[in-house]
Amino acid sequence: MTTVPGRSVPGLDAIGHHHEESAAFHRLLLGPTMAYSGGYWEDGEGLTETLDEAQERKLDRFVELAGAAGARRVLDVGCGWGAMLNRLTVVHGVEQAVGLTLSHAQEQFIAGFGNPRISARVESWEHHTTRDPYDAAFCVNAPGGVVPGAPSSYELAGRHPAFFGTVGALLRPGARFVLHTVTASGRPVGEQRLADLAFLRRTGLGDGSVPRLYELARAADGLFDVVEIVDERDALARACRAWLERLAQCRDMAVVLSGEEAVARVERGLRVFVSTLEDAYFSNLRITLARR
Ligand SMILES: C[S@@+](CC[C@H](N)C(=O)[O-])C[C@H]1O[C@@H](n2cnc3c(N)ncnc32)[C@H](O)[C@@H]1O
Repeated sequence: MTTVPGRSVPGLDAIGHHHEESAAFHRLLLGPTMAYSGGYWEDGEGLTETLDEAQERKLDRFVELAGAAGARRVLDVGCGWGAMLNRLTVVHGVEQAVGLTLSHAQEQFIAGFGNPRISARVESWEHHTTRDPYDAAFCVNAPGGVVPGAPSSYELAGRHPAFFGTVGALLRPGARFVLHTVTASGRPVGEQRLADLAFLRRTGLGDGSVPRLYELARAADGLFDVVEIVDERDALARACRAWLERLAQCRDMAVVLSGEEAVARVERGLRVFVSTLEDAYFSNLRITLARR
């Protein structure tokens, strides 16, 4: 997969070397929605059996929180394989949905929808400008979108005001911004946890770019009003478990598509997320903001 020069595409995105290979692996892992940011399961529902509905329910809830149904223009920062763009335009009547990604594979995949209401571009958030402000924006579990490839926590903290400032400038006053992000809320204790976090850093899956809530709150202060903050660590942990189950069911095919090393890396990354979320080292905050 080609990436924007000088930037690494984090996490699961680093799978596959070209468009078809990468898209095929992700479809295998994630199911037809190709969303990879969690889902809302109801009690008693099977993890893999209900994966697609759970992910769609989550997207719909986000649309509701952002007041995006029927909107003219909506931005999705870190749009992945276009699940939200699709849902916005096909189900929720949005006229124009714009997605930003760092992945050419994702851009090409989304172009393949042939949906004139959707445009996805390979562009980092800090380069995106518009003369026509958006009516709503999302950034759904795209940690690299907040702090791409930043090496130290000092530099990371410096990126947050720029991120909120940029998104704020793209929105009309009163517009909502729904941000879903993994945050760190615990202290890393024990050799296993330290090794797991080092693994996430090495593979670009997280940790190095995982913010703390106060950093986000400080950066958004004065630009946005806080509507709601909810910790959805359970919803993301369940999704990671569902993806692990799916991967176990089709592992041979995944290895053919992407190789043993890549598959093992994804498995370990998902397991680390399950354990860090379930014992509350990581949170997954859904933060709904309104542009002042
Ligand atoms: C984990 S995926 C999440 C995808 C999608 N939001 C979802 O829920 O399925 C992260 C996405 O963020 C994008 N991304 C990472 N850094 C970015 C940046 N600086 N600007 C724009 N997009 C970025 C990646 O290319 C990828 O599409």
